[in-house]
Amino acid sequence: MPFKSIFIACVIGGSLMVAALMINRARPPADTSGSTPTFTQATGRCAQCHREETAAVVHQFERSAHSQANITCYDCHQALDGQESNEHYNFTLAGDVTSLNCQACHRTEYDQFARSRHALPAWGAVRGAAEVSADLLAESEQHHPGAVDRPANALALLEGPAAMQTGCLACHAIGAPNQDGSIGTCTECHSRHSTSIALAREPQTCGQCHMGPDHSQIEIYNESKHGALFNAQRPALDLGVDPKRLTTADMPIPTCATCHMSGLDGLKVTHDTTERLSYWLFAEVSEQRPGYLAGQTEMKETCLKCHASTSVNGFYVEAEAVVAATNERVGAARDLMAGLRSDGLLTPEPFDEAIEFLYFDFWHYFGRTAKHGAFMGGADFVQWHGNYELLLKMTELEEMASALRSAGD
Ligand code: HEC
Ligand code: HEC
Ligand code: HEC
Ligand code: HEC
Ligand code: HEC
Ligand code: HEC
Ligand code: HEC
Ligand code: HEC
Repeated sequence: MPFKSIFIACVIGGSLMVAALMINRARPPADTSGSTPTFTQATGRCAQCHREETAAVVHQFERSAHSQANITCYDCHQALDGQESNEHYNFTLAGDVTSLNCQACHRTEYDQFARSRHALPAWGAVRGAAEVSADLLAESEQHHPGAVDRPANALALLEGPAAMQTGCLACHAIGAPNQDGSIGTCTECHSRHSTSIALAREPQTCGQCHMGPDHSQIEIYNESKHGALFNAQRPALDLGVDPKRLTTADMPIPTCATCHMSGLDGLKVTHDTTERLSYWLFAEVSEQRPGYLAGQTEMKETCLKCHASTSVNGFYVEAEAVVAATNERVGAARDLMAGLRSDGLLTPEPFDEAIEFLYFDFWHYFGRTAKHGAFMGGADFVQWHGNYELLLKMTELEEMASALRSAGD
């Protein structure tokens, strides 16, 4: 072969190699993030079997921010100090994955959650201090005096353990004391394997528990202007934005999370859903919370990202007037009941006479509904499901009371 041909071949070959190298350099870096040793060892081996056993778990995990951040199955499922464990194909798994396993990486969220009423007070509302350690009880009492240190709920006891477990506690175990010393569960709003922020910002996620005649938040929301707009414009909103960067451009319409938790346009994010409240609306007669002013200021700061201060302040004045009017109505009914009791016309036991159920519905359904409706834009709930029922049931209470009195004569 003549020298000239060899020379040309070398030049062409060399150019091709240089070109190939240049093209390769310009390509995005190869994704090797999924193959660190622990990832292969834990997720790889867990996923290998679980793609067969519980395929949906693997698919959900694969779409999560955790998977993208190289968090493995084992990072959550390994047994930590103080947790019951079981051997599972050479892995030591936690018997229960609890908020302790999340806390290891998300301390801030855990601490905020743990001081909220979603934590031990939710449990205490049903079970009282049962199964709560002395240390945890003392800590909780500092934040919410009387919320856990109280007897088990009388109605729950009457309904019995089966209804308590699958009824009350299906919602209230969000704050259960765990056997490993931690409190509650983080997955009610995020779910276990999607661990999604977008899911947690969906109204329906909160509405799993915040529904029904005794706390009609999801129903009120869906009827409010906010809910109507949200449902109509849902596709135009971005619910998955990093909480530290969430703006009113991503979510110009508020959901439950926006008002009660989000750090909209630079505000502080919180997992303490108690922080922005100013009244005990769930109570029979609603008084101001100890942090009344701070709570109201924080909530109003959120409204003010979208509304003018005159309308926000006006809204609060009107809602507070509904609280005062409802307190008066419930107060009158409570006096009526106290009169019957002190005159010996009722037994000391709760829930053994029809009038006790009627009085319970009076404040627990209709009184609460009126107050919640006023604070979350539910006109129908202030009116027909609230005040109208209060008037109607008061006449029924009075009739029953006078029947009891004439029977007692
Ligand atoms: C060799 C196959 C195999 C491997 C490896 C494996 N698993 Fe499993 N896993 C199973 C089978 C089979 C079940 C039982 C499924 C059932 O009951 O329907 C199971 C059940 C489970 C359960 C439910 C246990 C219960 O009692 O509720 C969890 C949680 C779990 N695996 C997590 C993991 C994690 C995390 C890993 C990796 C660290 C892993 N598994 C590795 C096969 C495997
Ligand atoms: C962000 C933490 C986290 C990660 C990551 C995670 N899990 Fe889980 N997993 C949980 C929690 C929490 C539960 C509920 C545990 C409980 O109730 O004890 C659970 C439950 C399960 C169950 C039982 C499901 C059922 O409904 O019976 C299986 C099986 C399981 N995980 C497998 C896996 C596998 C496989 C991976 C990886 C592909 C994985 N998990 C990754 C947190 C996690
Ligand atoms: C081993 C550490 C680790 C554990 C354990 C862990 N996480 Fe995470 N988590 C992370 C990392 C890292 C990210 C990604 C952070 C980022 O993208 O800024 C993350 C992100 C998240 C996010 C945001 C998801 C999103 O869409 O941006 C949520 C919610 C979350 N974790 C919840 C949980 C819950 C609930 C548990 C327990 C069941 C848990 N994590 C356990 C490390 C962990
Ligand atoms: C569908 C979910 C769900 C069920 C079932 C449920 N609750 Fe609740 N409960 C809630 C929510 C949500 C609140 C918060 C209401 C509010 O603040 O407006 C609440 C509030 C309470 C409160 C007032 C708050 C407090 O700490 O004193 C008590 C008491 C209570 N529930 C007891 C019970 C009992 C007892 C049962 C069963 C007989 C029960 N709940 C069933 C979701 C539920
Ligand atoms: C009542 C529902 C709820 C519960 C319970 C809950 N979260 Fe969240 N979480 C949310 C919402 C909503 C957001 C997004 C807040 C926002 O809109 O900015 C969020 C955001 C997060 C983020 C992202 C934070 C950031 O700044 O990037 C992490 C991590 C997280 N949660 C972990 C947890 C852990 C750990 C627990 C349990 C201790 C928990 N969550 C319990 C609703 C919840
Ligand atoms: C698994 C059930 C459950 C889910 C899901 C849930 N909550 Fe709750 N929430 C409760 C219970 C139970 C209480 C009552 C706690 C108590 O006894 O005071 C409560 C109380 C509250 C309170 C009142 C706190 C106080 O100090 O009185 C707010 C506000 C709240 N939740 C907001 C939310 C928001 C926002 C979401 C969704 C991002 C949400 N919750 C999701 C069960 C739930
Ligand atoms: C536009 C903002 C906004 C939205 C959206 C919103 N809330 Fe509220 N919420 C409020 C205000 C304001 C209060 C009364 C605060 C106070 O006590 O000062 C309140 C009160 C509550 C309470 C009553 C706590 C008690 O004392 O009984 C609960 C529980 C609650 N909201 C849950 C929800 C849930 C669940 C959703 C979604 C279905 C939701 N909120 C949507 C603003 C909002
Ligand atoms: C993320 C933005 C956003 C937040 C936060 C927000 N709103 Fe709204 N709000 C809206 C939008 C958008 C409308 C619909 C306005 C229209 O009719 O065009 C609306 C409508 C209303 C309305 C009915 C129309 C009116 O102005 O009379 C009331 C009342 C209201 N909001 C009160 C509040 C209160 C109180 C808060 C805080 C507790 C709040 N909003 C928080 C966006 C927000």
